[in-house]
Amino acid sequence: MVVVGGGECGARAALAMRAAGWTGPVTLVGEEAMAPYERPPLSKAALIGDAPSPATICDETALRDAGISFLAGVPVTHVDRDAHEIGLADGRRLGYERLLLATGAAPRRLPLPGADGVRYLRTHADALALRERLRPGARVGVVGGGFIGLELAASAVARGCTVTVVEVAPRLMGRVVPVEVAAVLADRHTRAGVDVRCGVGLAGLEPTGLDLDTGETVPCDVVVAGIGAVPETALAEKAGLAVDDGLRVDARLATSDPDVFAAGDCCSFPHPLYDDRRIRLESWRNAQDQGTAAARSMLGADEPFAAVPWMWSDQYELTLQIAGLPDAAVTEVVRRRPDGVEIRFGLGEDGRLLAASAVGEGNAVARDVRVAELLVGRRATPAPAALADPAVPLKSLLRGAGCTA
Ligand code: APR
Repeated sequence: MVVVGGGECGARAALAMRAAGWTGPVTLVGEEAMAPYERPPLSKAALIGDAPSPATICDETALRDAGISFLAGVPVTHVDRDAHEIGLADGRRLGYERLLLATGAAPRRLPLPGADGVRYLRTHADALALRERLRPGARVGVVGGGFIGLELAASAVARGCTVTVVEVAPRLMGRVVPVEVAAVLADRHTRAGVDVRCGVGLAGLEPTGLDLDTGETVPCDVVVAGIGAVPETALAEKAGLAVDDGLRVDARLATSDPDVFAAGDCCSFPHPLYDDRRIRLESWRNAQDQGTAAARSMLGADEPFAAVPWMWSDQYELTLQIAGLPDAAVTEVVRRRPDGVEIRFGLGEDGRLLAASAVGEGNAVARDVRVAELLVGRRATPAPAALADPAVPLKSLLRGAGCTA
C-alpha cells in the first residue's frame, strides 16, 4: 500500500490501513520534509501565537511504531500504472499493489505582472514567512475574501496590522457560505477596522501596493492572496487517469484505474446525499474522512463514501460552521435563537434538509450544526415550522428521523 501525499488525508489513510487490520507494508511519501501536520492553524494560531511550531498529526516515531515507512521531502515524479510503480525525484522506484493519491490542492496564483512578491498560504513554511511580515503597524493587502483571506485578515488585525481586503465578487465567501452568514462576518471585520472592498478587482500590482480597477492605489507593505485552490492533478494526468475538476473517483474513491485511489482536496466524487452530484470538497474534515474511507476501499471494502460535508472557519471570537451543501437547497428556513444567533437551514424541493450554517461566538453554534448534520445524513424531512421555532429542541427532530442523538 503506497500513499502519495503527507498531509491530513494521506496521513489519516496510512494510519487507517493499520486500524483496518492490514499487516503488509505501508509507505507514505510526502513532498514536505516534515512529519504530517495540521493545516487549519496556519492562518490562525501559527500567525498569532508565540511558538509557531507545527501541530503534528503523527510524528516520525508514531509512524515508525505503526510500521509505516515515511519518505519525507521526496517529490513523486511519475506513476507507472503498467509496472505498478511510482518514481521518486531521487531516482528511486517503489512498487505498489494499491496506490492512493492524496496530493491536495495548491493556492491559485494571481495572474498579474508584478505578482512575484505576493505571499500565499498553504504550508508551515508559508506561515512562518508571512508571520515575520505581520508586524504591528504593517499595511497588509489581502486579495480574496474567502476562507484564507478572512482568517488571515483577523490574524493580521490581532498582530496590530492595518488590513484591506479586496474581493472581486460582490460579497465575501461566495464559494460555500450563504450570503447572510457571510454578512455577519463582513460586519465583524469592518468593526475590527478592516477595509473590506467587495466588487473590486485588481488592475495591477506595484512593489508598494495594490492598483484597484477603481483607479485607486492601496499602499501595502505586504500582499497576500487567498484566491482559491487548484487540485494537484499533474501526476494523475501524466499517468492518464481521468480528471474532472480534480481526480475523478467513484463512490469507493477508486480512480479510472481500479488499483489507484484518490481522496481529499485533489478529487471529485459523486455524493449520494446530493443525487450523486459530482463535488470536490476543500475541507479538513473531508480530508480526514476520505483518507480513512479510501484506506478501507483499498483493502477491499465496498462502502460508498457518504459523509455529510462539514467545514468551519474561525475569525476573531466568531466561529462559522457549515454542514451539508447550502447551494443544493431551494428554500431556506431560519431559526432565530434568543441569544441572537441565526441558524440557516437549506431544504430541497422534497423538503429534505440539505444544509445548515451559522456563525456565533466560540462554540455557540456547534451543537445545533452537529444535530443538523445528523439530520442531513439521515435524509430527514423536518417540518419547516419546527426548524424555525427555537422552542423546539433540534434534537427532538432526530427522533422523527429514526435515530437518537
Ligand atoms: N481578486 C480578488 N478576489 C478574488 C480573485 C481576484 N483576482 N480571484 C478570486 N477571488 C476571490 C473569490 O471570489 C473568493 O471569494 O477569492 C476568494 C477565494 O476564496 P476561497 O474559495 O474560500 O479560497 P481560499 O480562501 O483561497 O482558500 C483556499 O484553503 O483553507 C482552505 O478551505 C480553504 O480550501 C480552501 C483553500
